[in-house]
Amino acid sequence: MFFMKETYITTAIPYVNGNPHLGHAMDYLLADVLRRYMIMCGKTVRLQAGTDEHGSKIFKKAAEQGIPTQEFVDQNAAKFQDFIHSLGVEYTDFVRTTNPDHKKRCQKIWTKLSDHIYKDKYEGWYCEGCENFVTDKEHDENNGVCPDHKKPYVKLSEENYYLRISDFKDQIREAIESDELKITPTFRKKEFLNLLKDMPDVSISRPKNQVEWGVAVPGDESQVMYVWIDALANYITVLGYPDKDISDTWPAHTQIVGKDILRFHAGIWPAILLGLGLPLPKNLLAHGFITANGEKMSKSIGNVIDPVEILDKHGLTPFRYYFLRHASTTEDSDFTWDKYEASYNELANDLGNLVQRLTTLCKKNEIAGLERSNLEIDGFDELMEKYEFNNAFELVWKEIQNLNKRIDEEKPWALAKTDPDAARQVLAKLSSDLLGLCDKMSLFIPDTAEKIAGIFTAEQITPPAEPLFPKA
Ligand code: MSP
Repeated sequence: MFFMKETYITTAIPYVNGNPHLGHAMDYLLADVLRRYMIMCGKTVRLQAGTDEHGSKIFKKAAEQGIPTQEFVDQNAAKFQDFIHSLGVEYTDFVRTTNPDHKKRCQKIWTKLSDHIYKDKYEGWYCEGCENFVTDKEHDENNGVCPDHKKPYVKLSEENYYLRISDFKDQIREAIESDELKITPTFRKKEFLNLLKDMPDVSISRPKNQVEWGVAVPGDESQVMYVWIDALANYITVLGYPDKDISDTWPAHTQIVGKDILRFHAGIWPAILLGLGLPLPKNLLAHGFITANGEKMSKSIGNVIDPVEILDKHGLTPFRYYFLRHASTTEDSDFTWDKYEASYNELANDLGNLVQRLTTLCKKNEIAGLERSNLEIDGFDELMEKYEFNNAFELVWKEIQNLNKRIDEEKPWALAKTDPDAARQVLAKLSSDLLGLCDKMSLFIPDTAEKIAGIFTAEQITPPAEPLFPKA
């Protein structure tokens, strides 16, 4: 019997110490474009999403608000689920790290890894914002203050369990160098390989008296897992590992993460997988950051732009259009309201006007029963495969702009007066070509692509009752 392997795409699971912010949208949008593309290519896709619900930051936030921690994370996890849906993204699996099944599975994973785990005393510089120890070198380079959180590092000393990364370093290096585990973009791959050289063993637990909100370490009541083992494990516990065989789904086709957490996904995660005897993911995509007015956005700094406000302004399509065409997959990209409005106007001018003009002319000339052109766009698939989604979308957009140009040049309204048949042919061809673009358009702006397909395949083509993108 032949079983079709599933194409498994994962997203980072955000901490639920607050509302979703704009940066979180990037993981989901990129995953969604890839998901839609893979489906278009005939694959069966699993897309995971989830929430990272342990750690002292979350515990403190809940206490501050006077809410029981579980209730606090329940509320926030629901907000993230709503947020993902509001972006037009459909996941197949959702994992919460406080879920009892997840916790049990993590403990089993820990036990399986026990040959590579040891206990040791740790003393080092720690950022409470990052919830992470930094090396002395990093501490000195940053003059003792975390650049992300603008908080001084504190000296911490405690007992921790460690994962012996050194057991796997050579294997990890080989996998990454040979692209067996392919890191995109290449400059991040190089950056990471440099980092891997001096990567120390990692602390994977904290004393329970320091962090009480966590998964208990099996066999040691005094420690909880912290944070990365129980967070990273989500990608396989959600599939049922180790209780179920996951080989139809794992290894993942693509794991999508922000550039800041690539090192955990390229270093610690492969070590865990190798320790478990599981295959490594095929691809790790590290996307850039969204900045606001040129500044890094962060919950701790407090300059976070509320994505819901942007969504409310003009709806979903302009949101996806901005972040998928004007934000680069791999570089940092900036958001400002001015740029957003300019992008909205562009969308209205290029696509909104095109639909308005074409439908008006089609109605006048009684065009109906259109065939969808079979449009290939040179280089589109290559760009998609290289994860250059914004550049692939750009190619689709060039075709849309080209249709506008063709209307201007072929002047079907003038032609209608002298040669109505020729005018009808021109209009039918233009409309069929626009229809032919809808599949590719639907990877990026699915709602609008569907609307346009509906308009042009209707028995009678009529202009939309409301312009697609009304002037504000
Ligand atoms: N909980 C960890 C991830 C664990 S994955 C096993 C975490 N959470 S986070 O909430 O800080 O970040 C979640 C995702 O959002 C990460 O991929 C992160 O890179 C991304 N982003 C957070 N801020 C961002 C921007 N400003 N821009 C783009 N993505 C950013 O890390």
